[in-house]
Amino acid sequence: MSNYHIKHLEEYYQVYRKSVRNPEAFWEEIAEEHFVWRKRWDNVLSWDFKKPEIKWFEGAKLNITENCLDRHLPTRGDKTAIIFEPNDPKEEALHITYRELHERVCRMANVLLGHGVKKGDRVCIYLPMIPELSVALLACARIGAIHSVVFAGFSSHALATRINDSDCKIVITSDGSFRGSKSIDLKGIVDKALEGCPGVANVLVAKRTNAKIDMLKGRDKWLQPLLDEAYADCVAEIMDAEDPLFILYTSGSTGTPKGMVHTTAGYMVYSAYTFKNVFQYTENDVYWCTADIGWITGHSYIVYGPLANGATTLMFEGVPSYPDYGRFWDVVEKHKVNQFYTAPTAIRALAKENLDYVEKHDLSSLKVLGSVGEPINEEAWHWYNNNVGKKNSPIVDTWWQTETGGIMITPIPYVTPTTPTYATLPFIGIQPALMDENGQEIKGNQVDGRLCIKFPWPSISRTIWGNHDRYRDTYFSAYENMYFTGDGALRDAVGYYRITGRVDDVIIVSGHNLGTAPIEDSINEHPAVAESAIVGFPHDVKGNALYGYVILKETGESRDRENLRKEINQQITEHVGPIAKLDKIQFVSGLPKTRSGKIMRRILRKIASNDTSNLGDTSTLLNPEVVQEIMDNAL
Ligand code: PRX
Repeated sequence: MSNYHIKHLEEYYQVYRKSVRNPEAFWEEIAEEHFVWRKRWDNVLSWDFKKPEIKWFEGAKLNITENCLDRHLPTRGDKTAIIFEPNDPKEEALHITYRELHERVCRMANVLLGHGVKKGDRVCIYLPMIPELSVALLACARIGAIHSVVFAGFSSHALATRINDSDCKIVITSDGSFRGSKSIDLKGIVDKALEGCPGVANVLVAKRTNAKIDMLKGRDKWLQPLLDEAYADCVAEIMDAEDPLFILYTSGSTGTPKGMVHTTAGYMVYSAYTFKNVFQYTENDVYWCTADIGWITGHSYIVYGPLANGATTLMFEGVPSYPDYGRFWDVVEKHKVNQFYTAPTAIRALAKENLDYVEKHDLSSLKVLGSVGEPINEEAWHWYNNNVGKKNSPIVDTWWQTETGGIMITPIPYVTPTTPTYATLPFIGIQPALMDENGQEIKGNQVDGRLCIKFPWPSISRTIWGNHDRYRDTYFSAYENMYFTGDGALRDAVGYYRITGRVDDVIIVSGHNLGTAPIEDSINEHPAVAESAIVGFPHDVKGNALYGYVILKETGESRDRENLRKEINQQITEHVGPIAKLDKIQFVSGLPKTRSGKIMRRILRKIASNDTSNLGDTSTLLNPEVVQEIMDNAL
């Protein structure tokens, strides 16, 4: 992409106005100027939020890897595309150039082709943050296969559900993963998952920890020898603009995880354009996003957005606390990182530690700091601003979602004056609206409501894999002709947005989206449990933590409560993953329910948050007496 950035606020407003007055003309110009196409589009946009159906750049032909790799080779072939910083700082970092990355991607693409993977097939990727992960994404894109990355912290049960939902025929994994001082048996998790996945024909295994693992004859193969033998070039599959690029699962308030489908051209245009402007990336910068590629942040802002801009993007395998709490700042100093993008939960965890961990490092390379994944509280914002940015690096508090594919509300650094806890202004082309409970748009400033988006943007997800009705019901049925985000927000006197949090039953723990349903299902499978409900409550590092209310069966009543708590958390770890463990478990005799049988979570949330002065209207409760009992025994 060209190196021009928006330079001042008036210019932002001008470009913004242009982008919403005539979105088609605006995005057409961006698409033309910044990308390579095999064939031009016939139509920039067609959309109907009722069906819903959204198509960008229809008729265009392209391959996203030609935009992320091939086109950079003449001018940036020897430039570092990926810096790999390993878990153990004693192990040397790798600098992978664009030419090397191109070769690695082609080899991996040929290995996939050799295993019968064709355009449109789904490939499950369950890998730690090692170079093979980025390579695997791009290799799928090279041949038109649809990748489905599953975060390598999910359990075998969660992995199996995702593999089966999208019918993946092949899994790419590793022998294990390093996380700080621990090493995790990833292959063992895959083996267990595959007991319930008859559709998977092959498992390709990258070597990372050298742990002794079982290899199933005929199914499992070591990846490296196959890559070594593979041809180092691979013709890119020519894709339609609207061909799916990937599926990424996200939690819903009910039911199974939703496989959000992102398509090729619109996703490419929006992730690349936002990357360039939100981080103000210039040619020789080193950019680092600490997210895992298992989440959308990693897809859009470690892999696709940066590489489409010919940027140098850093992949970090480790954790912020290993070997000590200075690791992030050590990496920033070592690689002279210019843009640093992380989550509030990491900031809060590091802010609790001795300031020496920050101060002993030279952080003068930093130009832009980013935050994503959950609301950033004021204290964390100031700590980040004062101690990491030394009040010299603007903080971009970026609001967006798996479903939006790219950043939606954000300051533009050095352009938008920032206010702690405010994501500030809509990005170019984004038309937010706040809605009231009667479905009316709330106009004007100093108002709050439910956050919707009125008009499509190029990287909006197009459907839920295999369930278009659920896509419509979840996002397009609450408000007519609007995409509903599930978040609440307020708009202040100058038109800045502040995201106030989820308005549904999704709980964000350490920046991870957790739906209540799969966690409750796993608790309920415990033989001693009759029923359960979980809610979030404020936590000073995680943002929210989980509080479970559990009704025991008669047979469970005599059991030791502490053991039961451990077993319930073990059960959750196995079914969902350790990120979904409960901080508090209260055993109760009943749950507050409405006459229609719905659990009144509002009350449980207040009790868990120790905020019981006003429980609101409880007149519709079937069993109001249980509320007092729960309050009396709250943890
Ligand atoms: O509630 C919002 C919160 O994270 C949700 C989206 O989660 P996910 O799909 O996992 O994507 C996270 C990374 C893009 C949103 O609905 N969220 C995300 N960013 C912010 C945020 N809440 C407040 N401020 C943010 N900057």
